[in-house]
Amino acid sequence: MLCLVLMALMGLATPLMAEDEIPEVNPFTGDAKAIREGRSWYRNSCSPCHGGRADGAGERGNGADLRKMQLGFRGFVQLVLDGRQIQGRTQVMPPWRGALKIDDIYRIGAYLETVAIDGANWKEGVKH
Ligand code: HEC
Repeated sequence: MLCLVLMALMGLATPLMAEDEIPEVNPFTGDAKAIREGRSWYRNSCSPCHGGRADGAGERGNGADLRKMQLGFRGFVQLVLDGRQIQGRTQVMPPWRGALKIDDIYRIGAYLETVAIDGANWKEGVKH
């Protein structure tokens, strides 16, 4: 019984803790080695949907155009961890929690910052 309660508490606490641990700014911004690694992760895991140039035109259909990402760094990390499904859309952003290490998500972010275009926001969180 106690064991079940503990497990339930841990289940509740995990997402909150994960969010707290995400730094406000990307620790890998501008780090050439991290950007190279991030690009390689991006090509393997994200480009099938988001496209080789991150413009949303992947071979498996349409992911979002990540060059215009506006969620801020924390919003980005949180979204990649949790995924997102908008009702009525057939294309789903899969959750990557457990599949990618948190640092590799930061590295992917550092790479995506290098392809960002006007209007993108990698700094401040936008409510979503
Ligand atoms: C199976 C296809 C698929 C894969 C693989 C995928 N995504 Fe997505 N992603 C989507 C779709 C579709 C959306 C748009 C969903 C929506 O509109 O809610 C999306 C949305 C996003 C968004 C939100 C963009 C915004 O401006 O709101 C981010 C950030 C993102 N993806 C990052 C990634 C990263 C990083 C990877 C690789 C680790 C990845 N995605 C892999 C399909 C995918």
